[in-house]
Amino acid sequence: MAHPTARVALVSGGNRGLGLAIATRLAEQGMHVVLGVRDRLAGREAEEALGRKGLFVDSHQLDVTDPASVARAVADAAASLGRLDVLINNAAVAVDRGQVASAPDFERIRATLDTNLLGAWRLAAAAVPEMRKNGYGRIVNITSHLGSQSNMGTGNVSYRVAKAGLNALTQILAAELVGTGILVNAVSPGRTNTRMAYGETDRTPEEAADTPVWLATLPDGGSTGGLFYERKPLDW
Ligand SMILES: NC(=O)c1ccc[n+]([C@@H]2O[C@H](COP(=O)([O-])OP(=O)(O)OC[C@H]3O[C@@H](n4cnc5c(N)ncnc54)[C@H](OP(=O)(O)O)[C@@H]3O)[C@@H](O)[C@H]2O)c1
Repeated sequence: MAHPTARVALVSGGNRGLGLAIATRLAEQGMHVVLGVRDRLAGREAEEALGRKGLFVDSHQLDVTDPASVARAVADAAASLGRLDVLINNAAVAVDRGQVASAPDFERIRATLDTNLLGAWRLAAAAVPEMRKNGYGRIVNITSHLGSQSNMGTGNVSYRVAKAGLNALTQILAAELVGTGILVNAVSPGRTNTRMAYGETDRTPEEAADTPVWLATLPDGGSTGGLFYERKPLDW
């Protein structure tokens, strides 16, 4: 059932980790949230759990590496709920922890760029026309300190390159969309206790959701977007 008046948000990788925490918070703030999920069963479980709390949440199959899946998820969300206001580009993989740039594994590099950079780019490109219809949009790209130019180092090479690219894309899109009512921002959540971080931190996904949710609900005026907003201290 659709929320009668709510803003509509799509969260990629919304079935677990930070994506689920952000989705929950947006729904608690009154949005109708669509969880974009690779695995339909995982999506249905998350959707039902949030539905039991009285929140307006759906799940939709979404593989960000598949252009057809991206197009379907955005079109179906906008068609069934009447609009698309917020996109959280959260889905990502970290498959190259010990990798070095001088001995590249191009299969892992391709998989990382396809998910972490091109996946977010595909979703943004699909979402912008829907947002333009209402002259309102908030796109939040979940980046990482590992992609920051001021923190560039070795290891995690394709993850770093993909997140640095995502930061650049954020600034380019934000500049392109000035005056449209669509704000584009990137935020690094800091090392957070999800499957991606192997339990190496106590920071909860709920804590890490604060800034993404803030950026997803920025009021009009006061910002043109494109900030590369970094939490500190952070090491990822
Ligand atoms: N955790 C940290 O310490 C940390 C630090 C800095 C930045 N980040 C960023 O925070 C974001 C969330 O990460 P997380 O820590 O929550 O990681 P996570 O627990 O590993 O969750 C990743 C999510 O992305 C989804 N995903 C992966 N590939 C996908 C694809 N091709 N299509 C659609 N969904 C896909 C996963 O779906 P499945 O369940 O199907 O695998 C899962 O829902 C990422 O952008 C990550 O780079 C995390």
